[in-house]
Amino acid sequence: MAFIEFEHVSKIYKTGEVEVRAVDDVSFKIDKGKFVVVLGASGAGKTTILNLLGGMDSLTSGKIIVDGRDVSKANDRQLCEYRRYDIGFIFQFYNLVQNLTAYENVELARQICKDPLDAKEVLAMVGLKERADNFPSQLSGGEQQRVAIARAVAKNPKLLLCDEPTGALDYVTGKQILKVLQDMSKIHHITVIMITHNSALANIGDTIIRVRSGKIESISENARPMNAEDIEY
Ligand SMILES: Nc1ncnc2c1ncn2[C@@H]1O[C@H](COP(=O)(O)OP(=O)(O)OP(=O)(O)O)[C@@H](O)[C@H]1O
Ligand SMILES: [Mg+2]
Repeated sequence: MAFIEFEHVSKIYKTGEVEVRAVDDVSFKIDKGKFVVVLGASGAGKTTILNLLGGMDSLTSGKIIVDGRDVSKANDRQLCEYRRYDIGFIFQFYNLVQNLTAYENVELARQICKDPLDAKEVLAMVGLKERADNFPSQLSGGEQQRVAIARAVAKNPKLLLCDEPTGALDYVTGKQILKVLQDMSKIHHITVIMITHNSALANIGDTIIRVRSGKIESISENARPMNAEDIEY
């Protein structure tokens, strides 16, 4: 059994008379430790797929298995535990707590977990050892995103889910963040799923899932993923 299995997953949003098939009969498998890029245009269904996978939204039909566990059948309490213990989320706009330092932001996440990593160590992993005592307002966008990554990684999650993590960053800073995420999979063997609408970023993934109008357009394995430092976009 693969680490992640989507089996005929659909999500239909109903607003009054209008039905939107945000995710339409999507199936794929992902092995543990992979760096997966989910690529697609705006409205393709990328965030919906990530939210279903992260237990933040419920599916209309189908089945989602993560590490042998049927997420689609989980009740509210089980979903809460799943989000808390198994998943690290990284968003486009960092979502740090502004009146806590970088260290305290990471520490906050550690407190809700079973087997968290050391806060100082994860800050060192993202190159922010010296900035642990800074507040978010004292950090650049890229540095804040690295704190957000440290916070997600400190939970020691099975799965790191990233929704347009470089969307708010400039080119050079964006590449640094991509490198940190790629290293999380390559060096630390965390399964990372990253959403982007930028096809140039696809080359750094081990697996590339292309999504269009709620459906899978293609899934390709990348025998030689590019280093995040070397891509140009
Ligand atoms: N809560 C919701 N209620 C109704 N429709 C929704 C909801 N969430 C998403 N949708 C619709 O589902 C479709 C897929 O949305 P989704 O956010 O997954 O796209 P996306 O690929 O992440 O796009 P973007 O790149 O713009 O973030 C869109 O048509 C969107 O309007
Ligand atoms: Mg989205």
